[in-house]
Amino acid sequence: MKTNDEVIQLLTTAYSMELETVMNYLANSTNLDGVRAEEIKKSLAADIVAEISHAQDLARRIKQLGGLVPGSASVVLGNQRQPSDDTTDVVAVIEAVIDAEAAACEQYKKIIRATEGEDYVTQDLCIRLLADEEEHLVLFRGYLKEYAQRG
Ligand SMILES: [Fe+2]
Ligand SMILES: [Fe+2]
Repeated sequence: MKTNDEVIQLLTTAYSMELETVMNYLANSTNLDGVRAEEIKKSLAADIVAEISHAQDLARRIKQLGGLVPGSASVVLGNQRQPSDDTTDVVAVIEAVIDAEAAACEQYKKIIRATEGEDYVTQDLCIRLLADEEEHLVLFRGYLKEYAQRG
């Protein structure tokens, strides 16, 4: 069990990660070209809304625990794979999404463990967020299978 401050810190990191995901999904859902990219673009565009609502859920919990939600100067960005200059490289986008979703899953598992036996509300929130991210992860792993086959 971590202290309240440590839990706030973990939630704040997750908050930054969600915002970075939103930025990269915005870029990737816009930048890609070609017929093969259409489904991926649509899927990513739909995910943006989900990821923003994750950030909102985290912000609310940070506040409830007595923390402050960081502004843009304090949000930590730059940890994710960046959108490719090749706008037809759908596989690179799918792989970047898989990395981002897997990292989100790891962060939520970390918080779930850190809150065990004490902060059940934060734990419940992170279990629900983990379920969402696992769904995204499975979806994009499926896309990768299909795209890798088609070459
Ligand atoms: Fe998310
Ligand atoms: Fe996600």
